Amino acid sequence: MAEVTFGGSAEEVSLEEVGLRYEVDGKIATITLDRPEKRNAQTFATWSALARIGDSLPQQVRVVVIRGEGPSFSAGIDLRMFTPEGVPGQGSFAASALLDGATFEQRLARAQQGFLWLRRPDIVSVAAVQGHAIGAGFQLALACDLRVLADDAKLCMKEPALGLVPDLTGTKPLVDLVGLSRAIEICLTARTVGAEEAARIGLAELVVAPGELGQAVEDLTAALLAVDRDAATATKRLLQGASGRTLEEQCVAEGREQAVRLRALFT
Ligand code: ACO
Repeated sequence: MAEVTFGGSAEEVSLEEVGLRYEVDGKIATITLDRPEKRNAQTFATWSALARIGDSLPQQVRVVVIRGEGPSFSAGIDLRMFTPEGVPGQGSFAASALLDGATFEQRLARAQQGFLWLRRPDIVSVAAVQGHAIGAGFQLALACDLRVLADDAKLCMKEPALGLVPDLTGTKPLVDLVGLSRAIEICLTARTVGAEEAARIGLAELVVAPGELGQAVEDLTAALLAVDRDAATATKRLLQGASGRTLEEQCVAEGREQAVRLRALFT
């Protein structure tokens, strides 16, 4: 298993400094939030580093696993952002409030890039969640295609309780998964959703005992890798586009993808 690091230019700090570990083992990339003593709290540097991982993901990688070290998947954004001093080198919410609209949007767009690449059709992303996934932690889990939860998982969209909105790409997958009414209820009460409920309402594909989380993700990964890559990519693309198309349009899209598959397989 190759441990991958990024050279540190002024703005591109090392993954270790950011609190991330990134390993590529053949077709599987594993990203570990690795600041357990701070419950894997995230910063802009975390998201920028995630974006860089996405930008340079080796072509052979088919499954990306995101996991957290320690008792919590992630306690969300680093609470130092709420202080006047902020996170050293990364500013604070008070400083962000003074940015002009375009600069703020640009900065946020880069942060969101850290999440968006996990939807690429040529990969399947899997979040392995134990303990708390709060705010940005919940949104990171939502950014993945699949979620495997330990039965002690606790999901909470805490942003509205702190006067903020969830802005790290989480609102759309949440609505897609649980429907508008349930998403409103979960976000606007900022309540905690436990693992059993998460599975029941579509937020988790699988719930296992905490000690079985690693094995469950390995088994799922093996099953995903057993399917032909090009067929998997085309099928994910079809499924991702389904909600934006009519049934008739989806049938046409199926035909187009299948024609490509048939040509690849039989000519
Ligand atoms: N940012 C920075 N540090 C954090 C964060 C965080 N989000 N969460 C926990 N820590 C730190 C604590 O300050 C503590 O540090 P210390 O040992 O130096 O005092 C350490 O991590 C352990 O935290 P505990 O609270 O002792 O851990 P516990 O397991 O009892 O509780 C829990 C975990 C429930 C996650 C709790 O830490 C918590 O509520 N954290 C804040 C969650 C939050 O409000 N996140 C922001 C959401 S909004 C968003 O993400 C945009």
